[in-house]
Amino acid sequence: MNKRIEEILNKQIVAEAVSSQLYLAMASWAESSGINGTADFLYLHSDEEREHMLKLVRFINERGGRALIPSIEVPRQEFNSLTDIFTLLLEHEIKVTNMINEIVFVCLEEKDYSTHNFMQWFVAEQLEEEALARNILDKLKMIGSDKAGLYLFDRDLETLQNANPGGTEV
Ligand code: FEO
Repeated sequence: MNKRIEEILNKQIVAEAVSSQLYLAMASWAESSGINGTADFLYLHSDEEREHMLKLVRFINERGGRALIPSIEVPRQEFNSLTDIFTLLLEHEIKVTNMINEIVFVCLEEKDYSTHNFMQWFVAEQLEEEALARNILDKLKMIGSDKAGLYLFDRDLETLQNANPGGTEV
């Protein structure tokens, strides 16, 4: 496998692992705060990030490279509100999208068209994840500090997740 591609994909493994741990920390905070629908949503989102990481691990190894399993920093543990969580989540996903775009760019520079093809799944996934986070933030903005609204929001996230356990579409 092309060394430059192997390196940049290994960097992406770290990013997906960091995402998974960050969303797990958010889920744990939400659950311990009694915001259970949001917690379920974030637990599943964390699992999805681990799947993204595994996709990369398997791809690198199957192509004759070597996927390196990283240790990661302790994620942030304290959050102020649901808006705080989803703002952070969106910022994080935008960073990940930029990293994915960089990989696609390097694939073209290195004329690695099969990795380029593989990465298209991630490109589409990032579009979905960013749209989902923006959609959720718009809802939270509308609700403001209305307690009944927040209660319904949390219940809706739970329903959304149960109706669509493997996906991230709204
Ligand atoms: Fe795997 Fe949310 O990016």
